[in-house]
Amino acid sequence: MRYLVCSVSGFLLMAFSTAGVAGDVEYGAYLSAECASCHRSGNDDGRQIPSIAGLAEETFLTVMRAYQSKTLENVAMQTIASGLDDEQLAALAAYFATLPTE
Ligand code: HEC
Repeated sequence: MRYLVCSVSGFLLMAFSTAGVAGDVEYGAYLSAECASCHRSGNDDGRQIPSIAGLAEETFLTVMRAYQSKTLENVAMQTIASGLDDEQLAALAAYFATLPTE
Protein backbone atom coordinates (compact mmCIF):
# COMPACT_ATOMS: atom_id res chain seq x y z
CA MET A 1 0.00 0.00 0.00
CA ARG A 2 2.82 2.39 0.94
CA TYR A 3 4.43 1.82 -2.47
CA LEU A 4 1.25 2.51 -4.34
CA VAL A 5 0.85 5.79 -2.49
CA CYS A 6 4.45 6.72 -3.27
CA SER A 7 3.96 6.34 -6.99
CA VAL A 8 0.84 8.47 -6.82
CA SER A 9 2.88 11.12 -5.01
CA GLY A 10 5.51 10.89 -7.72
CA PHE A 11 2.89 11.56 -10.32
CA LEU A 12 1.61 14.59 -8.43
CA LEU A 13 5.15 15.88 -8.17
CA MET A 14 5.54 15.75 -11.94
CA ALA A 15 2.10 17.20 -12.53
CA PHE A 16 2.89 20.22 -10.39
CA SER A 17 6.52 20.65 -11.37
CA THR A 18 5.86 23.85 -13.28
CA ALA A 19 4.36 25.57 -10.22
CA GLY A 20 7.01 27.40 -8.30
CA VAL A 21 6.08 30.78 -6.88
CA ALA A 22 6.99 30.77 -3.17
CA GLY A 23 4.19 31.25 -0.71
CA ASP A 24 1.40 30.56 -3.14
CA VAL A 25 -1.25 27.91 -3.11
CA GLU A 26 -0.01 26.09 -6.21
CA TYR A 27 3.47 25.76 -4.79
CA GLY A 28 1.88 24.43 -1.60
CA ALA A 29 -0.09 21.91 -3.63
CA TYR A 30 3.15 20.79 -5.27
CA LEU A 31 4.90 20.43 -1.91
CA SER A 32 1.94 18.61 -0.40
CA ALA A 33 2.79 15.53 -2.47
CA GLU A 34 5.22 14.73 0.35
CA CYS A 35 2.39 14.84 2.89
CA ALA A 36 -0.14 12.78 0.98
CA SER A 37 1.42 9.42 1.79
CA CYS A 38 0.28 9.90 5.39
CA HIS A 39 -2.29 12.67 5.39
CA ARG A 40 -3.94 11.60 2.11
CA SER A 41 -6.31 14.33 0.99
CA GLY A 42 -5.71 16.19 4.24
CA ASN A 43 -8.80 14.84 5.92
CA ASP A 44 -8.79 12.23 8.65
CA ASP A 45 -9.26 8.84 7.06
CA GLY A 46 -9.56 6.89 10.28
CA ARG A 47 -5.91 5.83 10.46
CA GLN A 48 -5.07 8.12 13.36
CA ILE A 49 -3.34 10.69 11.22
CA PRO A 50 -4.81 14.07 12.12
CA SER A 51 -6.73 16.09 9.57
CA ILE A 52 -4.82 19.09 8.28
CA ALA A 53 -7.27 20.25 5.60
CA GLY A 54 -8.79 23.63 6.37
CA LEU A 55 -6.32 24.38 9.17
CA ALA A 56 -5.91 28.14 9.70
CA GLU A 57 -2.54 29.29 8.31
CA GLU A 58 -1.43 30.58 11.68
CA THR A 59 -2.28 27.31 13.40
CA PHE A 60 -0.51 25.33 10.70
CA LEU A 61 2.66 27.43 11.04
CA THR A 62 2.60 27.26 14.84
CA VAL A 63 2.33 23.47 14.78
CA MET A 64 5.02 23.02 12.11
CA ARG A 65 7.43 25.28 14.04
CA ALA A 66 6.73 23.25 17.17
CA TYR A 67 7.78 20.11 15.27
CA GLN A 68 10.89 21.93 13.99
CA SER A 69 11.89 22.92 17.49
CA LYS A 70 10.96 19.43 18.71
CA THR A 71 8.44 20.87 21.18
CA LEU A 72 6.04 18.40 19.60
CA GLU A 73 7.40 14.91 19.73
CA ASN A 74 6.34 13.02 16.61
CA VAL A 75 9.59 11.95 14.93
CA ALA A 76 8.14 11.68 11.43
CA MET A 77 6.75 15.19 11.60
CA GLN A 78 9.94 16.56 13.19
CA THR A 79 11.94 15.22 10.26
CA ILE A 80 9.51 16.54 7.69
CA ALA A 81 9.14 19.98 9.28
CA SER A 82 12.91 20.35 9.63
CA GLY A 83 13.31 19.80 5.90
CA LEU A 84 11.06 22.73 5.02
CA ASP A 85 12.11 26.37 4.89
CA ASP A 86 9.90 29.37 5.72
CA GLU A 87 8.75 29.88 2.13
CA GLN A 88 7.76 26.25 1.81
CA LEU A 89 5.91 26.34 5.12
CA ALA A 90 4.05 29.48 4.04
CA ALA A 91 3.06 27.85 0.75
CA LEU A 92 1.87 24.68 2.48
CA ALA A 93 -0.06 26.73 5.05
CA ALA A 94 -1.76 28.65 2.24
CA TYR A 95 -2.58 25.46 0.37
CA PHE A 96 -3.99 23.41 3.24
CA ALA A 97 -6.07 26.39 4.40
CA THR A 98 -7.89 26.29 1.05
CA LEU A 99 -8.86 22.63 1.38
CA PRO A 100 -12.39 21.84 2.52
CA THR A 101 -12.82 19.89 5.73
CA GLU A 102 -14.90 16.77 5.34
C1 HEC B 1 5.24 9.63 7.69
C2 HEC B 1 3.87 10.10 7.78
C3 HEC B 1 3.64 11.60 7.68
C4 HEC B 1 3.99 12.43 6.66
C5 HEC B 1 4.73 12.08 5.36
C6 HEC B 1 3.51 13.75 7.02
N1 HEC B 1 2.89 13.71 8.23
FE1 HEC B 1 2.06 15.29 9.24
N2 HEC B 1 1.59 14.07 10.78
C7 HEC B 1 1.82 12.71 10.84
C8 HEC B 1 1.39 12.20 12.13
C9 HEC B 1 1.47 10.76 12.59
C10 HEC B 1 0.91 13.32 12.85
C11 HEC B 1 0.40 13.34 14.29
C12 HEC B 1 1.64 13.51 15.13
C13 HEC B 1 1.39 13.84 16.55
O1 HEC B 1 0.58 13.17 17.18
O2 HEC B 1 2.04 14.80 17.04
C14 HEC B 1 1.05 14.47 11.97
C15 HEC B 1 0.66 15.76 12.30
C16 HEC B 1 0.69 16.84 11.47
C17 HEC B 1 0.19 18.16 11.78
C18 HEC B 1 -0.46 18.57 13.09
C19 HEC B 1 -1.95 18.36 12.98
C20 HEC B 1 -2.65 18.60 14.28
O3 HEC B 1 -3.83 18.97 14.24
O4 HEC B 1 -2.03 18.42 15.34
C21 HEC B 1 0.42 18.96 10.71
C22 HEC B 1 0.05 20.43 10.54
C23 HEC B 1 1.05 18.13 9.70
N3 HEC B 1 1.20 16.86 10.20
C24 HEC B 1 1.45 18.58 8.47
C25 HEC B 1 2.16 17.81 7.54
C26 HEC B 1 2.66 18.34 6.30
C27 HEC B 1 2.49 19.76 5.83
C28 HEC B 1 3.30 17.31 5.68
C29 HEC B 1 4.05 17.35 4.36
C30 HEC B 1 5.06 18.39 4.21
C31 HEC B 1 3.19 16.15 6.53
N4 HEC B 1 2.48 16.49 7.66
C32 HEC B 1 3.70 14.88 6.24
C33 HEC B 1 2.38 11.93 9.84
C34 HEC B 1 2.93 12.41 8.67
